[in-house]
Amino acid sequence: MNEHCTPLQADAEILENHEYRPWLFRMRLAAPAIASKIRPGQFVMIRSAWGNDPLLGRPLAVYDVDWDAAGQAVSLEVIYQIFGRGTKRLSQMTPGESVRIWGPLGHSFDEIPDARRIWFVAGGIGYTPFLALAKWWMGSSPYGGKTVRMDSTASINMIYGARSSDMIPPLADFRDSGIDLQLCTDDGSAGFSGRVTDLMTENWSSLPEEARPDLVVTCGPEPMLAAVSAWAGERQVRCLVSLENQMACGFGACFSCVAPIRQADGSTDLKRVCLEGPIFDAADVAWGHR
Ligand SMILES: Cc1cc2nc3c(=O)[nH]c(=O)nc-3n(C[C@H](O)[C@H](O)[C@H](O)COP(=O)(O)OP(=O)(O)OC[C@H]3O[C@@H](n4cnc5c(N)ncnc54)[C@H](O)[C@@H]3O)c2cc1C
Ligand code: FES
Repeated sequence: MNEHCTPLQADAEILENHEYRPWLFRMRLAAPAIASKIRPGQFVMIRSAWGNDPLLGRPLAVYDVDWDAAGQAVSLEVIYQIFGRGTKRLSQMTPGESVRIWGPLGHSFDEIPDARRIWFVAGGIGYTPFLALAKWWMGSSPYGGKTVRMDSTASINMIYGARSSDMIPPLADFRDSGIDLQLCTDDGSAGFSGRVTDLMTENWSSLPEEARPDLVVTCGPEPMLAAVSAWAGERQVRCLVSLENQMACGFGACFSCVAPIRQADGSTDLKRVCLEGPIFDAADVAWGHR
């Protein structure tokens, strides 16, 4: 995973706060300095610029960056699901109001994946880091001011899982960006009937060995991450997870975000997801260890 850059703090005007669903919003923010530095996998902390309710920011992954005709980053986009007080407050804000934002935070994904057949596996709101990552690795957007491009023979396929069809977010951005996307639902109301790991197994079985993935990248609810990690481990496929632990400070000071990570000597240490993560090698995460 890539190194940090120094986080910036800014009051950013809300340019758009679009309601996709009563529980799902897309916010575009005028934060050019952060937008020009942030890379896929990194996140920002956001809260209202006024008042103390809530006092703490909420971590949100960068969904996309918008550039002007001259190639300057002008705005940053996040997609958020209403979960509790902080995201509810964000959903009530209107264009012209300001949020306080700090970032880029955490490590980004590597510039070039050491893999040729990559599967993104997302569940719930865990799809948000993947648009920028796909566009970056495919060479179509210069996040962090840097154009990178994976090997031209490399491919990205994405699986998105939800409980039911009414919980599927708008995913047109992914298809428009040329990502091969498959859907699955637990109740079979849309796409493949079953969990993401069931669809992964189905795909795996139907592919010749040379077409099977050599990297899985996953983000979503923790039970799904643990299941995807186990699936990859059983098949000896490298797997990266992006953890979405709850956070208070976002920059390494409070230890509220720790995850149990296995060390080289076999012991388990608590690592700060905001600072050492949010991306970890799945094989290093001690799932269920608290
Ligand atoms: C790296 C990362 C990326 C994420 N990306 C996204 C995304 O793109 N979209 C999305 O919808 N969600 C994302 N999440 C999850 C999102 O941050 C949570 O859903 C959000 O914080 C919920 O906040 P809330 O105020 O709505 O809920 P609340 O239940 O009010 O608060 C949730 C969390 O806020 C923090 N908090 C509040 N008070 C305290 C306190 N006193 N001490 C310590 N912590 C406190 C805690 O973490 C708490 O559990 C991401 C999380 C991480 C870590
Ligand atoms: S959120 Fe404070 S140390 Fe990670």
